[in-house]
Amino acid sequence: MTVAAANQTIPEPADIRFEGVTKSFGSVTALDDVSVSFAPNKINVLLGLSGSGKSTMLRHINGLHKPTQGDVWTLGTPVHSAGQSAMRRLRNNVGMIFQQFHLVESSSVLENVCTGQLGSLRGPRFGLWSYPRAVREAAMDQLARVGLADKAFQRAGSLSGGQQQRVAIARALIQRPTVLLADEPVASLDPVSSAGVIELLTQISREENLTVICSLHQVQIALSFADRIVGLNAGRVVLDRSAAGMTHDDVDGIYAAEPVDQRLAMAV
Ligand SMILES: Nc1ncnc2c1ncn2[C@@H]1O[C@H](COP(=O)(O)OP(=O)(O)O)[C@@H](O)[C@H]1O
Ligand SMILES: [Mg+2]
Repeated sequence: MTVAAANQTIPEPADIRFEGVTKSFGSVTALDDVSVSFAPNKINVLLGLSGSGKSTMLRHINGLHKPTQGDVWTLGTPVHSAGQSAMRRLRNNVGMIFQQFHLVESSSVLENVCTGQLGSLRGPRFGLWSYPRAVREAAMDQLARVGLADKAFQRAGSLSGGQQQRVAIARALIQRPTVLLADEPVASLDPVSSAGVIELLTQISREENLTVICSLHQVQIALSFADRIVGLNAGRVVLDRSAAGMTHDDVDGIYAAEPVDQRLAMAV
């Protein structure tokens, strides 16, 4: 065996891989040469200030954005070049929840959960009873899981924020995803509801062996939730480490007013 071969590192299996990804919106560089990968079955938190690129990163994973430069691979699909049908297949394996829940407030809780199956059903659906019985039953199972079976026939808009986010989690889970994306899932919630939602996400992620990528801006919540923290500052990855043993200096680096390399340049 040659020395070069012996030293070759074997890449770890990854569900998601960013390779040299830059994303520009006009003159704004939202992501700047990001290379990072996410291993299966881990809870990963993207931590950074507002505007640091967290949502943009998440939206590349399920193809809501395509990179300006570079490649994104999700569950073996080349998101940067995939066509519509490949993206549809991929999205059935990637659930997403949002800060603002994105429920249809005038529809029942149960119907909202059923809509999580639309990607696998043919044709449009109008009303709860237009879903196959098996889908309605699966939706009830997911609602029971998030502790809201008794709310199934209430209007989604009548629930509290924490309950609405639980409905959104049930809607994401009904498609049995491999990857769960969560974009600031507790930013609109009070501290008690936030803690409940994070606890639920942790429990379900472990039970389902999900690969979770969750953006947050609260350090304490991130540390309690994550296996691994990826820090973003002005579109660049400035920290990538396990959540255990994070130091104050690590956190300061993420929240520095300027990107770390600019600060170093200024210091020289
Ligand atoms: N669709 C868009 N059009 C123009 N600029 C955008 C768009 N999405 C994000 N940006 C810009 O990209 C940067 C990163 O945004 P974002 O990913 O939303 O950050 P975060 O989620 O960390 O708050 C910001 O400067 C934001 O204004
Ligand atoms: Mg955001």
